[in-house]
Amino acid sequence: MAKKIGLFYGTQTGKTETSAEEIQAAFGGDLVTLNDISNASASDFDDYDCIIIGCPTWNIGELQSDWDGFYESELDAMSFAGKKVAYFGTGDQIGYADNFQDALGILEEKISGLGGQTVGLTSVDGYEHDASKAQKGNQFVGLALDDDNQPELSAERIKTWVTELRSAFEI
Ligand SMILES: Cc1cc2nc3c(=O)[nH]c(=O)nc-3n(C[C@H](O)[C@H](O)[C@H](O)COP(=O)(O)O)c2cc1C
Repeated sequence: MAKKIGLFYGTQTGKTETSAEEIQAAFGGDLVTLNDISNASASDFDDYDCIIIGCPTWNIGELQSDWDGFYESELDAMSFAGKKVAYFGTGDQIGYADNFQDALGILEEKISGLGGQTVGLTSVDGYEHDASKAQKGNQFVGLALDDDNQPELSAERIKTWVTELRSAFEI
């Protein structure tokens, strides 16, 4: 039986939720379970060895508010040892060029420090931001979607990323 994947997302205006649904559909079938982080508890993560984290960046370099609450109240006590973790976000590389997708970098740093094995890095080619906490060298630590400026690129970016995740998750 195929491994289950838990996708945990937060959203303020719905874009990251829509992207989460598109990622779920790209995996096909019912491999991916969607969890809104506003209703999730730490123990919900126990069900999965493969995790996808979805978080937009808000308020100039900050986590979306439900993720921010979870980060403050739950994350430090959790272990991600033995889990593969992939990250995606939606952001605005023109309006917030100095903080594009910072939330991905903040969450990846924290969760990898808790033992999570990061998978699903992507190239920064094709983006015009100036700075991002999500960038390491010439890669983002996850999938950077920008439906404010590049909505026409998102479907292909998701398709390519999901193909890579299938291999990284060994499913
Ligand atoms: C007040 C405000 C602050 C924002 N700050 C950032 C930011 O620092 N970095 C970024 O990449 N995007 C930023 N954005 C863009 C949002 O992350 C983007 O619109 C995202 O798709 C919203 O996702 P959601 O609909 O799932 O909440 C900001 C948008 C607003 C309105």
